[in-house]
Amino acid sequence: MNVLLLGSGGREHAFAWKLSQSKRLTKLYIAPGNAGTATCGHNVSISTTDFPAIKIIVLEKGINMVIVGPEDPLVKGIVDFFLADEQLKKIPVIGPPAKGAQLEGSKDFSKQFMFRHKIPTAAYETFTKETLDKGLAFLETLQPPYVLKADGLAAGKGVVIPDNLPDARRELKEMLSGKFGLAGDKVVIEEFLKGIELSVFVLTDGISYKILPAAKDYKRIGEGDTGLNTGGMGAVSPVPFAGEDFLQKVEDRIVKPTIAGLKKDGIPYAGFIFIGLMNRNGDPFVIEYNCRMGDPETEVVIPGIKSDLLDLFIAVAEKKLDESEVVIDPRTTTTVMMVAGGYPGAYEKGKEITGLDQVKDAIAFHAGTKEEDGKIVSAGGRVLAFTAFGNSIEEALNKSYAAANAVKFESCYFRKDIGLDLLKWKASV
Ligand code: AMP
Ligand code: GLY
Repeated sequence: MNVLLLGSGGREHAFAWKLSQSKRLTKLYIAPGNAGTATCGHNVSISTTDFPAIKIIVLEKGINMVIVGPEDPLVKGIVDFFLADEQLKKIPVIGPPAKGAQLEGSKDFSKQFMFRHKIPTAAYETFTKETLDKGLAFLETLQPPYVLKADGLAAGKGVVIPDNLPDARRELKEMLSGKFGLAGDKVVIEEFLKGIELSVFVLTDGISYKILPAAKDYKRIGEGDTGLNTGGMGAVSPVPFAGEDFLQKVEDRIVKPTIAGLKKDGIPYAGFIFIGLMNRNGDPFVIEYNCRMGDPETEVVIPGIKSDLLDLFIAVAEKKLDESEVVIDPRTTTTVMMVAGGYPGAYEKGKEITGLDQVKDAIAFHAGTKEEDGKIVSAGGRVLAFTAFGNSIEEALNKSYAAANAVKFESCYFRKDIGLDLLKWKASV
């Protein structure tokens, strides 16, 4: 089977690495890919949202399946584009149609979905420019901190959590006056949920589902969870504070009604659902849905799957996922992200990366890299993710950190405290 994978980050290198081990794979193409994905298949230099160019490649290379990494092409309707095209409609795309991708593409849509299907989440109201006064009055009824979310995709920056009322009022006015462009045409204001965050990943064919191991992401740039938000600086899977009881609640209260809700709403969803959760005193609440896998969560979740990933995707496409088994490696997986100095603010690219050949007992997934004159150079803010397995969190972290210490480029940076907060749960699991 020939497969086209869309995307260019660490998530896509992890997918490409796993797919390249499949006995069902003939040729793997990655668009646009990076220097890491180039070691697993053939990179093709087209954008993930250039649907006409994707069509040409699919027909030219005899592609039998398309796997979508990032949310952009899904929200822009790549699945719908394929279904509407005579030459493409029989080629399965792993990912939801635009309507399903609204679970991520519109906070207002996803909150309405959760309320309609009685899925536990924070109380909320949605406001527009026209209802600004009502929004300001609603803020008065809440306790700090205040959670304000731009409705549309805002590159992970659309959530603002001011801790006092004057800042919240100012933020609401700015958001509704175009601070986030069209994404802020509507603003969701919601109750602040106190607890510990984790993510659960679901693969579904629209009828049945498989729950993949949970993961914890480290979003802030600085140690001790300080500083600006990033795409993610590291991850650990599974999560020691999400025991069997908690995960059973997640399945019963969240996963089942989500799948049933999609069916009821007539959304044929075939792909991943990434559920961002708050564990509040042992009860799960949904913070957000994403219509794709997470990055860097993929770099810990996918290597932990022992089953053939392409087999699972074929089962999704054929709506026979209930007949598949997902075998999970019982070990812990950790990943540590190496970024360019300055990220998530301004940073430089094109720095030569050395030491990759010294990485032992870990996998160096490329996030933002490219090959230039036979050298691997940085090409993004997040550059490499070092994934390792262990029989304990410490063992996996030691290997991830040994790998990160072996690799260098000018002004590279990584957090030294990934997973350390989880060690205190060790005794109770
Ligand atoms: P989102 O893009 O919706 O995941 O929000 C980004 C981050 O803001 C989340 O990962 C949480 O850390 C935080 N957050 C979002 N909604 C809430 C909430 N209702 N209560 C507490 N924290 C929240
Ligand atoms: N790591 C968070 C995300 O992929 O959205």
